[in-house]
Amino acid sequence: MIALLYLLAGVLFILGLRGLGSPRTARRGNQIAAVGMLVASVVTVFWVIDQPLSALWWVIIVGAIVGGAIGGVLALKVRMTSMPELVAAFNGFGGGASALVAFAAIVATDTVVGTEVKYATETEVTVALSIAIGVVTLSGSFVAYGKLKGIITGKPVALPGGPYFNLMLVILMTAASVWAIAFNEPMGYWILAAIAVVLGVTGVIPIGGADMPVVISLLNSLSGVAASMAGFVIGNQGLIIAGALVGAAGFILTVQMSEAMNRSIANVLFAGFGTEGAAPIDAGDKPVNSATPEDVAISLAYAQKVIIVPGYGLAVAQAQHAVRELATALEERDVTVEYAIHPVAGRMPGHMNVLLAEAEVPYDVLLDLDQSNPKFPHTDVTLIVGANDVVNPSAREAGSVIYGMPILDVDLASTTVVIKRSLSPGFAGIDNPLFYMPTTMMLFSDAKAALENIHEALIEL
Ligand code: TAP
Repeated sequence: MIALLYLLAGVLFILGLRGLGSPRTARRGNQIAAVGMLVASVVTVFWVIDQPLSALWWVIIVGAIVGGAIGGVLALKVRMTSMPELVAAFNGFGGGASALVAFAAIVATDTVVGTEVKYATETEVTVALSIAIGVVTLSGSFVAYGKLKGIITGKPVALPGGPYFNLMLVILMTAASVWAIAFNEPMGYWILAAIAVVLGVTGVIPIGGADMPVVISLLNSLSGVAASMAGFVIGNQGLIIAGALVGAAGFILTVQMSEAMNRSIANVLFAGFGTEGAAPIDAGDKPVNSATPEDVAISLAYAQKVIIVPGYGLAVAQAQHAVRELATALEERDVTVEYAIHPVAGRMPGHMNVLLAEAEVPYDVLLDLDQSNPKFPHTDVTLIVGANDVVNPSAREAGSVIYGMPILDVDLASTTVVIKRSLSPGFAGIDNPLFYMPTTMMLFSDAKAALENIHEALIEL
């Protein structure tokens, strides 16, 4: 019965993940997966009754109540823009929990139950891996959290010896595991955990702050692997299934994010990429068409088709409601308005979708990269709100640092309006030739203020 109910939970997790594939079904997907987790949690209380530590079943209930309350409050209070930090913290605790399960299985069982438990060697190897991966996830996630919160510098911090330093730590961890397993020496596991804490820190600290969403996704995947291994150690199917799904889904997301930036996972982890706060670009004698909100309002009012391209600046300015209100005003004038969403616009997967959903922009006007690119040549005005790299035509030129990154072909529209505060570069730290094209109008302003001013000017027309 327990195995069947765990299977049911696994099926609900898979249906939930499937739902997360599209913004339209994501909320339902989340709810289905949450029901799956409820089933798995309740079943686990019954599962424990069969275990050596069955007298401690109430610990699970207390843990669920305390953990559930903390998680619930955090989830209710978190701002949408702080979601990556929250996910980082949850991942870290997930990894830590898996490591504790593995520790408890091997170190504590004989002390608590009073009987010597000797595990097979392969189980002990799984314990060592679960501790190593779980603890690396714990400390690495908290460094990612610190970088996103600004507690730790977002700049890549070079290590002495670079990646070789981390390689040395991996070798030391392997030696500690061999000591623990071959000589039946529990102290080896503690040393393994101590080195894993350091590896989590030194693995994440050389990575730039803006790459943290990719790192968090990878750590999420690792926390799943650790949980799955902990599941094998204690023979719990629910943990094996849930951990494997998290491991696979997190890894697929990591690969997809890297592909959308045309970078390898190795480049994200080791290249120290990203120039948060790079110096503004000096346009030199290149021509820049500066526009006023009134100029932009006139172009939009007489357009038939407008595509809005949101980017990281929309999130910074919290301009999602202002953009929606402007779009509604245009629609009232019979202008067709759609939104082109680049897969890595912003700083986290689905960043733009989440913001636009908050402002109740209907899903059917959201276009992905493949749907929007054929439409730009037939678009009168493309309105770019705080986006830069995802619309940078230099991605088409060999030699550019973003060469090969798929971009939105906004330069093919009749007129392009770019709203941003200055000529400062985006995440990739490079100039954008789009800003100097004769068909481009630059409206230098905070995105929210600019959109409100355009809206006002539109009403006056
Ligand atoms: P970016 O290229 O980072 O450009 C954002 C632009 O927004 C900046 O040039 C900035 O210019 C402008 N901006 C900032 N605050 C603003 C405000 N208050 N009002 C108006 N404009 C403002 O953003 P993007 O085009 O969305 O591209 C995303 C980048 O992040 C890509 O390079 C991508 O590879 C990277 N990345 C994405 C992810 C995910 S998963 N989405 C993860 C890691 C890295 P001013 O300072 O001149 O205003």
